Amino acid sequence: MRILFVCLGNICRSPTAEAVLRTLAARDAPELAIEVDSAGTAAYHVGEPPDPRARQAAARRGYDLMALRARIVEPVDFERFDLVLAMDRENLRVLRGSAPTSAHERLRLFLEFAPEAGPEDVPDPYYGGPNGFEEVLDLVEAAARGLLAHLRQRTRAVTI
Ligand code: 4NP
Repeated sequence: MRILFVCLGNICRSPTAEAVLRTLAARDAPELAIEVDSAGTAAYHVGEPPDPRARQAAARRGYDLMALRARIVEPVDFERFDLVLAMDRENLRVLRGSAPTSAHERLRLFLEFAPEAGPEDVPDPYYGGPNGFEEVLDLVEAAARGLLAHLRQRTRAVTI
C-alpha cells in the first residue's frame, strides 16, 4: 500500500503527515506494509527541508522530519501511489486538474478519515503562529489513526 500526501509547499503539512503516518503505521500496523511519501503542488521550496517550526512541533511529539526534502507532484505519482491524499480542498482541486481520469478515484481529502475532527481542510500554518502547527499535528494524528483503521478493515474484508 503506497500513500502520497500532498499540500502546497511540501514543507509544513504533508511532510508532517508523512512522518506521523510512517511512525504510527510501523508501530500499530506493520502488517499493512505501508509506504509513505509527500509532495507539493507548488515548486517554491523544492529541495528544502521541512519548515523549522513544523520540525520542532513534530519532534516534541516524537516524529522526525529531519531527512525529508520538498518535491513537487509528478505525473508518475498518479501511477505509483494507491492513495493520493490532499491536505485541503484547493490542493485536491489542483490534483484533479492534473491527474488522468483513471486516477481520480485514488485522490481523496486526508480529513475524510477524521470526520469527527470537524474541518475538511488541514489549515495552512505557514503564515500563522505556533498554534497552527499544533493544530496541524492534532488533525493529522486523528486522520492517520482513522486511515489505519480504514485500511485494516479493508485488508480484513479482502482476506476473508
Ligand atoms: P504547506 O505550507 O503547504 O503546508 O507546506 C506552505 C508552505 C509554503 C508556502 C505556503 C504554504 N509558501 O507560500 O511559500
